[in-house]
Amino acid sequence: MKGLILAGGKGTRLRPITHTSAKQLVPVANKPILFYAIETLKEAGIDEIGMIIGDTGPEVKAAVGDGSRWGVRITYIPQEAPLGLAHAVQTARDFLYPDPFVMFLGDNLIKGGIVSFVERFRTSRPNALILLTHVPNPQEFGVAELVEGRVVNLVEKPKEPKSDLALVGVYLFDHHIFEAISHITPSWRNELEITDAIQWLVKSGFTVEPHLVEGWWKDTGKLADLLEANRLILEDVCHEVRGAVRGCSRVEGRVVVEEGAEVVDSLVRGPAVIGAGARIVNSFIGPFTSVADGVTIENSEVEHSIILAGSTIRNLGGRLVDSLVGKNVEIQRTEAKPRAYRLMVGDNSQVGVI
Ligand code: DAU
Repeated sequence: MKGLILAGGKGTRLRPITHTSAKQLVPVANKPILFYAIETLKEAGIDEIGMIIGDTGPEVKAAVGDGSRWGVRITYIPQEAPLGLAHAVQTARDFLYPDPFVMFLGDNLIKGGIVSFVERFRTSRPNALILLTHVPNPQEFGVAELVEGRVVNLVEKPKEPKSDLALVGVYLFDHHIFEAISHITPSWRNELEITDAIQWLVKSGFTVEPHLVEGWWKDTGKLADLLEANRLILEDVCHEVRGAVRGCSRVEGRVVVEEGAEVVDSLVRGPAVIGAGARIVNSFIGPFTSVADGVTIENSEVEHSIILAGSTIRNLGGRLVDSLVGKNVEIQRTEAKPRAYRLMVGDNSQVGVI
């Protein structure tokens, strides 16, 4: 079985805090979302992976390389334009055909992996296996209608959803998907929709097996969602201290302190990760916090937050919570007169002050 990861799409910036334009490279628990997709496929025994790339291809290639780091082989497949998920599959035909494959959207995360679904696909041999999950906002996804556990209808982003079962961005297909794609036409958003191709399989009498999953996350570009993904992943970290813990520091619970990181006279309460070369001095790092490589936190308290690489937080008067701090940001208390807030904040940022 092969893998196909979709890491193309529009080169639009996801958030003001990301200095990268590839949304699949946004880090969760100090690791790009895309890397979880590669690991999930590898764990399921798939080491031959095609990766669809678009405008942000150079950035994706620089981050991922040839895949040897994970023991997989990555073949990059440029897509001329983001013309839809089914278009991406069609673009990868030479790489995939005639093998069955797992298609993984590069901005999706599945806690718990896909091993059982791959095994299921291998034994029961449906033409397609789709993953579904209950969501509060089905109109933003592909939506499945089931009758007695069988898929009867699939619609992409319906205005009036028939159920709350969203298509998760992981699909298993055999080669009939190419026939299905050849029968569909672009949708209202001018994309060849994989949902329409699967619907064609259903209508044409092919077997499409549904499975419910929990612990799924999709990149929606909202802060609350990113913090949720961070929580999902940090729930699973183990206690591993490779860096230095000095002075009267305490590292409690499941905390990763990477090589070259220093925790001095501080309390780190897990689950949390402290990246390589980070310095935590006289501070409190609370649960569900990801501190990336090279971050400095001094005389401050941070909880339930993501701090990206190279940033500095010093002498905060209050505790920083529920926050996402971009790369190379400086936040510090200042004695400068007049006593005032001084900000340089990017487009679409949100700042809460007390
Ligand atoms: O995440 C699950 C949802 O993903 C499903 O519920 C929907 O049925 C499915 O259509 C898809 O919806 P989105 O509109 O959210 O997909 P998005 O445009 O965000 O693309 C998903 C990933 O695929 C993203 O990493 C970019 C990449 N992509 C997208 C397109 C349209 C490509 O590589 N090429 C493309 O042409």
